[in-house]
Amino acid sequence: MSHLIKPHGGSLCELLVDSKTKSSLLKDSLELKSLTLNDRQLCDIEMLLNGGFSPLRGFLGEADYNSVLSDNRLSDGTIWPIPITLDVSEEFSKDLNFDHRIVLRDYEGVAISILTISDIWAPDLKNEAKMVYGTSDLKHPAVNYLFNISKKIYLGGSLQGLEYPKHYDYQTDRHTPSEVRAEFEKKGWSKIVAFQTRNPMHRAHKELVNRASQEIGGNLLIHPVVGMTKPGDVDHYTRVRCYKKVMEKFSPNLAMLSLVPLSMRMGGPREALWHALIRKNYGCTHFIVGRDHAGPGNDSLDKPFYGPYDAQDLVVKYADEIGVQMVPFKLMVYVKERAEYMPIDEVPQELTQLNISGTELRNRLDKGLDIPDWFTYSDVVKELREAYPPKSKRGFTIFFTGLSGSGKSTIANALQVKLLENGRRRVTLLDGDIVRINLSSELGFSKEHRDLNIQRIGFVASEITKNGGIAICAPIAPYENVRQGNRELISMGGSYIEVHVSTPINICEKRDVKGLYAKARKGLIKGFTGIDDPYEVPANPEIAIDTSNISQQEAVQIVLEYLKNEGYID
Ligand code: PPS
Repeated sequence: MSHLIKPHGGSLCELLVDSKTKSSLLKDSLELKSLTLNDRQLCDIEMLLNGGFSPLRGFLGEADYNSVLSDNRLSDGTIWPIPITLDVSEEFSKDLNFDHRIVLRDYEGVAISILTISDIWAPDLKNEAKMVYGTSDLKHPAVNYLFNISKKIYLGGSLQGLEYPKHYDYQTDRHTPSEVRAEFEKKGWSKIVAFQTRNPMHRAHKELVNRASQEIGGNLLIHPVVGMTKPGDVDHYTRVRCYKKVMEKFSPNLAMLSLVPLSMRMGGPREALWHALIRKNYGCTHFIVGRDHAGPGNDSLDKPFYGPYDAQDLVVKYADEIGVQMVPFKLMVYVKERAEYMPIDEVPQELTQLNISGTELRNRLDKGLDIPDWFTYSDVVKELREAYPPKSKRGFTIFFTGLSGSGKSTIANALQVKLLENGRRRVTLLDGDIVRINLSSELGFSKEHRDLNIQRIGFVASEITKNGGIAICAPIAPYENVRQGNRELISMGGSYIEVHVSTPINICEKRDVKGLYAKARKGLIKGFTGIDDPYEVPANPEIAIDTSNISQQEAVQIVLEYLKNEGYID
């Protein structure tokens, strides 16, 4: 008889079938329609198959979905705050019907699961955004997913799992809920507090989780998310190396590290409750909830999406019903005179509190400044410095965007030469025309083709950037959304600097070096940017340069000054 807390809903819903059923389903799958899952769906399906999302046995049907949206509960009354849905295109759903089966595959075509469809519907995504995340602001990553990435039809239904999505990284640190439970049993732990994190851990976190375990008189599960987190977070490879260093500092048999393949939504209060339920499935009795747990930062008006303690309030509200107790996170600060960490509200007024915020840490890494020993461990600093060298050694992309004839290519070419003179990094120029010849020769100038062209440039630039080089891009790139996508992709591995070459159309047209404006005016070229095709002005470029009244050298100088001031070049 297990002493561990029961999973949510009473039992773990592990959905992998036995090997005999698997071979028979694999045979059937040859006849079935296939869907390739995206990154988020792959995370969701892994959590469904391994029982982390118990009591769910598949993607939500319409009745459960509506009930989750309005009441934080499945239609049978079980608490469940985040809709786990499978979005597909209208095209894909066209010939599907109830009771049809489809096969869900990973990017390599491996069959992960069979879905037997119970529901097909077109959700009101605006309503979902409002009900679940309380906003329709696109700065919220989950709202952005709903409005810009999600397909328009949801399929609900039960899953028969064939195999887990493959991971080649940190395989021995990944455990299913039943593996974690078995480990707890083996260690003789029954009271366990889980710590969810998407950031590196420092001394304050170690202190905090230690105190949490003392408070409950139990053990610790350090349970970082290695699925999808907030865009711009420290990559999970670096984080896991840091966590492993921190794990060495705990007393023996106090804490266990396990990586969870969750795709976070940054859904604040609802997400906190969801996290608690997931940890219950992994066998934890307690869950640490901090200030602004799973908050996505500020909205487009620079206001926080959620109140700092909304998440704690929601988890407390349901704690008794779900059986997981919340351990509220108190901000830990270093008290200089005592040379120790204390919860901020317990520090006597006359003593000096020290703390380094995430932004300040990033700033110190960017500039190669000192990171004090009281803040974190030297081996953690070493990992972070290797992953985030100072800006002067990091890769970056300079992305020029603007109308044809605005001066993009001229500045980009001259800048390339200057950076080669500087000599510290390799430089690649991805000018609009070069790309059109070498990467995108089959593409035209429809919105779809332009977006694809810019995505390709973004992909190449992101590879160059993450490997420490400089990519200079100079396409027209008329659409904000796809530029924003590139910004996010490239920022994951270095810096993205957008330069809007804002020379007005009348000047560009007067220059008309290629004679294209004249042709467009005569109707010989259709859909020419600025004439009969849109150009969306960048919302937040790092630099804007109007070349109407300045020379090429002056324009390049503006960019070089920016790079120097920001520390990218000496
Ligand atoms: S986009 O929208 O970013 O994909 O365009 P881009 O690849 O930068 O365009 C490269 C050059 O194609 C020429 N050209 C046109 N531009 C705009 N609209 C239409 N319909 C068009 N047809 C051809 C134009 O000269 C672009 O180069 P630049 O250097 O901007 O003048």
